Amino acid sequence: MHSHRRALLGAAAAAATLAGTRPLFAQAATPASQPDDDLPTVTAPGYDAPSGARKIDVLDLRRLEEPARKIIPAGGFGYISSGAGDEWTMHENINAFKRRQILPHYLNSMGAIDTSTTILGTQIKVPIITTVFGGHAIAHTTAEAGTAKGTHAAGTLFTCGSQANLPMEVIAKASPGPNWMQLYIQNDRGLMREFVQRAKAAGYKAIVITVDAFFRSNRETDIANRYASPFQAANFPKRDATGYFASTSIMKGSIGWDDVAFIQKESGLPVIIKGVMTPEMGREAVRHGCAGIQISNHGGRQLDDQPATFTMLPMIADAVAGRIPIIFDSGVRRGQDVFKALALGANVIALGRPILYGLALGGWMGVQAVHERIAAELVMTMTAAGTSKVSQITKKSLLPVT
Ligand SMILES: Cc1cc2nc3c(=O)[nH]c(=O)nc-3n(C[C@H](O)[C@H](O)[C@H](O)COP(=O)(O)O)c2cc1C
Repeated sequence: MHSHRRALLGAAAAAATLAGTRPLFAQAATPASQPDDDLPTVTAPGYDAPSGARKIDVLDLRRLEEPARKIIPAGGFGYISSGAGDEWTMHENINAFKRRQILPHYLNSMGAIDTSTTILGTQIKVPIITTVFGGHAIAHTTAEAGTAKGTHAAGTLFTCGSQANLPMEVIAKASPGPNWMQLYIQNDRGLMREFVQRAKAAGYKAIVITVDAFFRSNRETDIANRYASPFQAANFPKRDATGYFASTSIMKGSIGWDDVAFIQKESGLPVIIKGVMTPEMGREAVRHGCAGIQISNHGGRQLDDQPATFTMLPMIADAVAGRIPIIFDSGVRRGQDVFKALALGANVIALGRPILYGLALGGWMGVQAVHERIAAELVMTMTAAGTSKVSQITKKSLLPVT
């Protein structure tokens, strides 16, 4: 498995050289894998997930999918890469970015580019964070520990999933953060209270409540593959001697603002609502005292035929009117995409699937490489647009829609 992966990456590096990669983005040749001795691991019988850490060459985030497909077991890869229904929304998320163009601005004697920013009082090196994924063990044996460590190495923020395959305390130990904790609203309020209090004690700085996945969507690839994760959600107490709570069976099937209020009160942490797709929901989040919103359609994994997040962003930003920060995800693959979303009112971008592909291909070092590559593209874009700071990125840099 390992030598096979090395051969693949070697070929990718050779192809990049042939394609004439510019020195700005060139990276060292792929070295041999290093063991992840300092990180915990999660394995399941019959599921041969990649392991080990290595530097990877990242030329374009979208091109990571193909080599990742070759090393992630088929069911796991299908689960990561696919979307709901016809996958129209999943593809539209990416395509929508191409409908707005960036205006270059030269001869402005601009100094060095500073990509740093602050989100809910936390300083990060780039306005790009790692979004939440349920269980990372399907992509790599180091699971969330690897992703958290790689995200930290890139100088930015990790969002841990409530369905994580490692206990939240173990993940927090593997990376000093900053980290946020995501939560699916559960039937059992006592369980949720314990969960958010543990998160606070372990140093997680905010709770992200996902509101768009309380129903089962038609992810037909998973249905055709009869896919069920072989890994357990490690963060809920054992129901009995043999097993953990199954992830979906205890998720509440109907959720409301009273559930949000409960988490606000019990956690004492800032609460972000993830899955906001309309101006109305943005306004409601402000009214209910939320600390932020995450504009997301779950990467096209829940309701197909809804608009791209980038299409809705300007309307939602108008409604929120700067009162709370906006985190933005779904379809971000380029530094230019990050720039465009910031220009239309997002405060930070949450990076999705390419992170899991980077994790599969290079462990924590792969996650770091993915973050650094898109950050380099953002620097290039900011340079060409004449914006030396994140706060200078506004819609003046985009061609107006006529
Ligand atoms: C494999 C996978 C698992 C995910 N699990 C969760 C989850 O547990 N909770 C959640 O809020 N979002 C989850 N998401 C959605 C992501 O947080 C994010 O919204 C999405 O990946 C963005 O789309 P993109 O990957 O196309 O950029 C998951 C996404 C993927 C690909």
